[in-house]
Amino acid sequence: MSRKIAPSILAADFARLGAEVETVRPGCDLLHVDVMDGHFVPNLSIGPAVVESLRRVTDLHLDVHLMIDNPAEFIDPFASAGADGLTVHVELGDPRPLLDRIRAHGISVGLVFNPGTPLDAVEPYLAEIDVLLFMSVNPGFGGQAFIPEVLDKLAAARALVDERGLAVELEIDGGITVETGPRAAAAGADILVAGSAVFRAPDQLAACHAIRAASWPT
Ligand code: DX5
Ligand code: ZN
Repeated sequence: MSRKIAPSILAADFARLGAEVETVRPGCDLLHVDVMDGHFVPNLSIGPAVVESLRRVTDLHLDVHLMIDNPAEFIDPFASAGADGLTVHVELGDPRPLLDRIRAHGISVGLVFNPGTPLDAVEPYLAEIDVLLFMSVNPGFGGQAFIPEVLDKLAAARALVDERGLAVELEIDGGITVETGPRAAAAGADILVAGSAVFRAPDQLAACHAIRAASWPT
């Protein structure tokens, strides 16, 4: 099992993005990048140009979460921009062509499912992905409340992955704080994504350390 913290830049100050990424760098393992198109989710965020800019200023693993209707059109641009991993939603339909296309770039292959989508929907693909992302809020906005029912799915997936000896990492995204991070870690999460709890904190680096320490006490 891994123990990774992934701040989500959706809650960062985009006018100071490079500086804020540098601030959290010593306390985190990945940088989570939320891409929204105003169709798949009711919000707009950023595109490949921002990933390209981030790539120039950080060596952090850029974990790009695509919340868009047409991921097939954007896998190549995001990979070329320097994404280290791309994650696509299973709610769009058979994800296999997308997973194959991501794999062809030699980067991390991620599949994500919403709080209301059952584990059965992603189970057939577990052997073909590097990361399974659990949405613990309905996607579209930062700062929402954690949906605790997702913990049962997470625990079930943990058991399945361990039983099958699969290498897939389990990542959880939405409403992660020093209170909910430990619950997700206890259910078997490898990677905790936190937006508001990191970037809206008065001390962003301390917030990363605090979520890690609370979630995985040594
Ligand atoms: C929601 C995004 C999340 C979001 C998390 O659609 O996928 O990554 O940034 O934000 P918080 O941690 O504030 O819930
Ligand atoms: Zn996300």
